[in-house]
Amino acid sequence: MRFVVFGAGAVGSVLGGHLALNKQDVLLVTREPHAAAINENNGLRMLSATGDYSAPLRAATKLAREDIDADTCVFFTPKSNDTKSCVEQLVKTAPPDTPVVSFQNGVTNEEIIVKYFENVYGGVCRMTCSQLQPGQVSFRKMGRLVVGKYPKGAHSFPKKLASVLEEAGFDVSVSNSIMCDKWLKLIVNLQSGFNAIIENRDHDSVEFMELKVGVLEEAKKVLRAQKMKAKSCDDRDLSVDDVIGELKKPKAPRSPSSVRVNNSTWQNLYLKRKEIENGYFHNPIIEMAKKHKIDVPFNEVSLELVTESCNEQLGPGAFRASEVLQKIKDRSTGS
Ligand SMILES: NC(=O)c1ccc[n+]([C@@H]2O[C@H](COP(=O)([O-])OP(=O)(O)OC[C@H]3O[C@@H](n4cnc5c(N)ncnc54)[C@H](OP(=O)(O)O)[C@@H]3O)[C@@H](O)[C@H]2O)c1
Repeated sequence: MRFVVFGAGAVGSVLGGHLALNKQDVLLVTREPHAAAINENNGLRMLSATGDYSAPLRAATKLAREDIDADTCVFFTPKSNDTKSCVEQLVKTAPPDTPVVSFQNGVTNEEIIVKYFENVYGGVCRMTCSQLQPGQVSFRKMGRLVVGKYPKGAHSFPKKLASVLEEAGFDVSVSNSIMCDKWLKLIVNLQSGFNAIIENRDHDSVEFMELKVGVLEEAKKVLRAQKMKAKSCDDRDLSVDDVIGELKKPKAPRSPSSVRVNNSTWQNLYLKRKEIENGYFHNPIIEMAKKHKIDVPFNEVSLELVTESCNEQLGPGAFRASEVLQKIKDRSTGS
């Protein structure tokens, strides 16, 4: 199998980099500075708590016809706000029967891609990755992946893909109901706004824990009302209840890690990008909540403040946990 990673920033480069380290043929389609640095350095620099690697892969800003053959699989990894423009660009070069696997967060990307490609697969990537400078990515540790045919069902391709990914060191599950796994990941991602906008010194505080438990409890209520399943295909990923339980457990304060790895939202605020994708996580919950007349102030405030942080270029960590919690309480009581 050959791999093209389209929209290769943090997550796409880390996935492609590990495949290349395992001798797979990988091309990253990415922005000019990242592509130029990778090609100048003869590979992608990958930094992690477990060591530094140089992955031998190629990078380009555009896909050429000769980059794709009948054995090519596309990993699709732009942010959700770029899905339409990227898939329209991809389909100009890739034949419509090319397998396309979306490792993006959110639950609306595959339904866009399937309008252009016949063989669409969903992917869940449970691994925190950052790309803060061209030619270089960082990740905390090897992660867990789930892949499956979109919208559902058993299929031979995800099994074949899983074995290639396992050989590259990932822990991989194949799902026959990938959108249930993607919904579970969406719920987990609801925490990413607070993780990015709350000042670091508050991250071990009770208020911070209450904020994260708050968004998850609201989502749980909404999903129950909607009769929507958000679950792991083989129960290997924590359920929403398990995540809440973990958050509530007392923990020792953390010491800072030597390798800087933060979530995608944090990265976008840090890099002062003009768009963030958090609306793709919170809005499905907020819309369903309206339908069922459920109040979701934690989700609303998280989305509002992360949007403000982006629009006003405040960077990550612009808010204290206690002030955000107070804002949510005021909204709930109507004061
Ligand atoms: N980072 C993580 O830890 C992580 C983990 C799991 C899942 N995810 C999900 O994976 C997706 C990607 O996240 P990410 O953190 O990797 O984001 P990212 O670092 O911003 O990577 C996306 C890259 O695609 C580029 N891009 C957009 N349009 C393009 C085009 N037409 N041609 C070439 N490149 C293009 C973007 O460039 P510009 O910014 O210049 O547009 C950006 O460099 C998101 O859905 C995210 O939620 C992320």
